[in-house]
Amino acid sequence: MSYYKILGLNSEPFSTSPDPEFLYLSREYDLALTNILIELRLKRGLNVILGDVGVGKTTLSRKLVKELNNREDFIFHVTLNPVFESEKEFLFTLIRNFDIPFDRDFREATVSEVRDVFEGFLLNQTLKQNKTVVLIIDEAQKLSQETLESLRILLNYETNDFKLVQIVLLGQLELYSRIIEIANFYDRIDFKFTLNPLGFEETKDMIDFRIRQAGFNGSMYLFLEEAIKDIYYYTKGYPRGIIRICHRCLRALVMSKSKMVVDRQLATEVIEKDSISRWRHVTMPQNSI
Ligand SMILES: Nc1ncnc2c1ncn2[C@@H]1O[C@H](COP(=O)(O)OP(=O)(O)O)[C@@H](O)[C@H]1O
Ligand SMILES: [Mg+2]
Repeated sequence: MSYYKILGLNSEPFSTSPDPEFLYLSREYDLALTNILIELRLKRGLNVILGDVGVGKTTLSRKLVKELNNREDFIFHVTLNPVFESEKEFLFTLIRNFDIPFDRDFREATVSEVRDVFEGFLLNQTLKQNKTVVLIIDEAQKLSQETLESLRILLNYETNDFKLVQIVLLGQLELYSRIIEIANFYDRIDFKFTLNPLGFEETKDMIDFRIRQAGFNGSMYLFLEEAIKDIYYYTKGYPRGIIRICHRCLRALVMSKSKMVVDRQLATEVIEKDSISRWRHVTMPQNSI
């Protein structure tokens, strides 16, 4: 029997998949999401979401996709690993992913021909079909200068009122320095947001939220506040770390014969094992908060 069933849950509360159902909408996530949706609706062009590894960028992009799926006037594509051999390959990937008819042999076509076909598609979709075309690129720090330059050119396609393609870049902080190296790219950013790790109260809320999303409806907490304090201190509020440790705590809770709840002792044991396995030494002060 799965450990979570023993705890009275229907599903895994701390699974690592970036499932939008388990996205806890902290104030920052909510702000980021609302603003991106506004910018997309206004068709202003470029949105950039920055953040460290594990802060929740991919999860946010899934949530965005879920929102866009509910709106018929949006056509979008998500690129998860934006590594392309050349600008032509990048543009051709767009052609394929947006299902754009292309009746030439790709190898013979020039970059500008492929770009023209994509522009034709954008004109048709936005001006004739009244659609908003969105390109979401995760792990955008991996984009080459050449591809970034190509995106900049795509952002030149515009009417007097709006851009023909909307771009959402989500990437680690170094993406920012890459962008500012490209002339006329930085000024095209309409919305830039840096996702920060959660605060203590939010960490507590996120843990509770995920447990309840997994079907827990007991009145007791599965984690004592003292345990959450240590988890917060150790993970610095990064959701990836929080869910890794919480997952292990619940497994340890099920294995322990004597405990009904994750207390500080149990959390500390899990954290110590985690830090040893990562070859890091974390000393837990008595009153970490
Ligand atoms: N706001 C959030 N609420 C709940 N879980 C989250 C949240 N943000 C991130 N997570 C979880 O943390 C982990 C890391 O998130 P992820 O989106 O992969 O981070 P990043 O893409 O920034 O590296 C994922 O397993 C995800 O489920
Ligand atoms: Mg990610």
